[in-house]
Order: sequence, then C-alpha cells, then structure tokens
Amino acid sequence: MTDKRILLCLAHMSETGEEMKFVKEAFDTNWVVPLGPNVNGFEADLEAFVNNNEVGLELNKRVVALSSGTAAVHLALLACGVGPGDEVMVQSFTFCASSHPVTYLGATPVFVDSEPETWNMDPALLDEAISDRVAKTGRKPKAIVPVYLYGMPARIDEIMAVARKWDIPVVEDAAEGFGSRYHGQVVGTFGDYGVLSFNGNKMITTSGGGALICPDEAAWRRIMWLATQAREAYPYYQHEAIGYNYRMSNICAGIGRGQMTILDEHIAHHRRIAAMYSDAFKAMDGITFHSEAEGMESNYWLSTILLDEGLRVVGEDAAYAEAVQGAVGGAAGVVHGGGAAHTDCEPSRNVEAMRLALDRCGVESRPLWKPMHRQPVYKNAPAYVNGVSESLFKRGLCLPSGPMVTDEDVARVIEAIKGAIER
Ligand SMILES: Cc1ncc(COP(=O)(O)O)c(C=O)c1O
Repeated sequence: MTDKRILLCLAHMSETGEEMKFVKEAFDTNWVVPLGPNVNGFEADLEAFVNNNEVGLELNKRVVALSSGTAAVHLALLACGVGPGDEVMVQSFTFCASSHPVTYLGATPVFVDSEPETWNMDPALLDEAISDRVAKTGRKPKAIVPVYLYGMPARIDEIMAVARKWDIPVVEDAAEGFGSRYHGQVVGTFGDYGVLSFNGNKMITTSGGGALICPDEAAWRRIMWLATQAREAYPYYQHEAIGYNYRMSNICAGIGRGQMTILDEHIAHHRRIAAMYSDAFKAMDGITFHSEAEGMESNYWLSTILLDEGLRVVGEDAAYAEAVQGAVGGAAGVVHGGGAAHTDCEPSRNVEAMRLALDRCGVESRPLWKPMHRQPVYKNAPAYVNGVSESLFKRGLCLPSGPMVTDEDVARVIEAIKGAIER
C-alpha cells in the first residue's frame, strides 16, 4: 500500500523539459509580455493540429491563443453578435464557463438537455427548443453552444444540421475535448468557432490559458483585435469599440509549445487508462463505464462511471452527514456560502458514499457536472429538459485519468471501488 494520493488529472511536463526551453528563451530574450514568438509559435502548432484530419478536408482554421477557455467562449459569442436581450442555446450538462459568458454579454442562456449515448446536446431537443423560442419570442437564438463533455464527441453532424436549418452559428465548447475526433475530424473545427482550454487539469496545460479556433482569416483578425483591447491604428490609443485583455502571455505559450510535443502521448495515455477501466467494469455488476460511440474517438479527458441505483456502497448512512467545511476551488482559502449538507439536486447517496470511500483510500473522484438548468443562479433561464443530464448527474463519478496516473494507480482505484461495494 502506498501513500500516494491519486488525483483526477494533474499537469504533466515533457521528460525532456521542452516547456522550460521555450520559457527560458522568453526570459532570455525579454519577451515577458502577452504577445511574442511563443504565442505565435503555439498558435501555429495548434493550427497544424486542428487542421490535420483523417478525411482529407482542407480546413484552414486559424487560432488565437487567449488567457483562458472562458475568454474564448466570451469572444466567440461576441463574434456571433450576441448582445443584451439575445438568447443563446447552451448544453445544460456542462461546466459553468459554457454559459456564464452569455450572461457577461447581457444575454440569456437557454439550456438544452443531453442525449444518453454521448451525454452531450440532444440534436432533436435542440431543434424543438429553437422552434419553441422562435414561437415564443419572435426571434431566433444568436448562437448554439454544444459541449464535448469529458472529451466525448457530441453528435456534431446532427447538431450542425439543426444549426444550418435555422441558420444559427455554432460555438463548439471543446475545452475538455482537445484532440477528440468525430469521424476523423478534430472536434472544435465543425462549427463557426471552437473553444479550447489549457487550464492546469486539461489535456495539455499552459498553467492557465485557452484558445479560439476561428473559421477564416477575417474572423481571426477580428478576434485578435478584440482580444488585444480593440485598438485602432493610430500612434496613440484610439478606441472605437470595446475590447478585452485576453491575449495569452508569452511565458504561458512557451509552456504550451512544450506541451504540444507530448499531446499525442497524453491522448494515448488517457485512452489507455479508459480502456483499463472499461475492461474492469465490464465484469462488475452495478457500475457502467461511459464509452465512446461508433465513429467517435474520445480523448477520455476524464473517465466516468455510473452507479446503478440499487448498488449498495459502504457508509451510505454517513453520506451527506456533514456540510463541506473548507474552501472549494482555487479561491485562496475563501469559503463562500455552504453551511448546509444538502441541496434540492445532488448526487445519490451511494455516489457520495463511493466518493468518500475512495477518498479514504487516497483516491480523488468527483461528481459529474451539475446541469446548469438545476443551478440556482440560472433558475430563471429557459430550459428544454428530458431528464437525461439530471439523472446522469445523480449517478455519475469522474475517476483519476491524467498522465500522472499509472497502471498501478488504475488498479488501486479499481480495487478501492470493489472494496467499497457492500456484499
Ligand atoms: C466545458 C468547459 N468549458 C469551458 C471551460 C473554461 O476553460 P478555462 O478554465 O480555461 O477558462 C472549461 C474548463 O475549465 C470547461 O470544462
């Protein structure tokens, strides 16, 4: 038994220190600013990666490196013309950064539930929801935001067909899906814009950062301008539009350039871990591993499982016995709200008991994203719901999946899960 705590997805640097070489070069040449050779080089690497596909498509997508994936969502929506009073169709089953930027722009997210196979936006429900919004408001939504949850490709061809039918632009939130493919094409390159995140826990990291995949040169130029405070071409600061300070730092981009050398390795690692879990859970009653569908190649950013309702887990009586005491997230120890052990929508008792049992074994796990339409902050947002995401949220857990997770770690996680099931 080792003391090592097995975490969900930790940053992992190249063995050869490529990241440090690019960062050192930035220091040596005094490019310690949010622009420079590493930013340009990282963008070129990203473009080469996303444009490369197995179906011979000439994509010519352009990429802008930004300070976060959230900034990428924000700028993409802005480029789609989203403004005060507009509506945007957003996948409900997601992290809050898919929908919060809609509200930054004074618009309203309209949440669309998932289909059970990929856990991503249900194309038929999307179509119905748009039809209903048009009937109710007399206006079309300004954009559609599908998400690649945990890296799993969405039914993007069907979503694109709905988008084309209504002539609404698509912003693919591929923050978790970097390197996943749908019929050989990298996700994030199907819609008008594609969002990537390089946060510390993602497929590759720049410590914090993101990028926006743009459809063409003109869109790229506009995003680049908006991301750099929208300056007009004068020797002094002339502003005729509101811009943002969203360009990536040249130091962070140095890390990104190094990380690009091991992206394929990371994807292969996540997929291998997923295959190990998948094999193990095939033989375990009451636990279902979430697998990719036909024609889809997930990066398996996080491997996820569902617990059957009837599965009994040790310590269920003690699940939710105590409210969370400490800080959550990265807010430097700042505790906000909380105090109560329950909300009106939470993972089932057996899921929380499993999380606690794994924690006692030194294994980090995490509930699935709580659907946005069940978040108090969005209680007034319209939602088109079929029960899928709420049911998944109540039954699911994310398991350790990152490049720092070894084969032995996976075996330990599986043993810990087995050990937590009541016989
Ligand atoms: C689905 C999704 N969208 C957007 C983001 C935002 O990315 P970032 O953290 O880089 O702002 C994240 C991750 O953090 C995410 O998981």
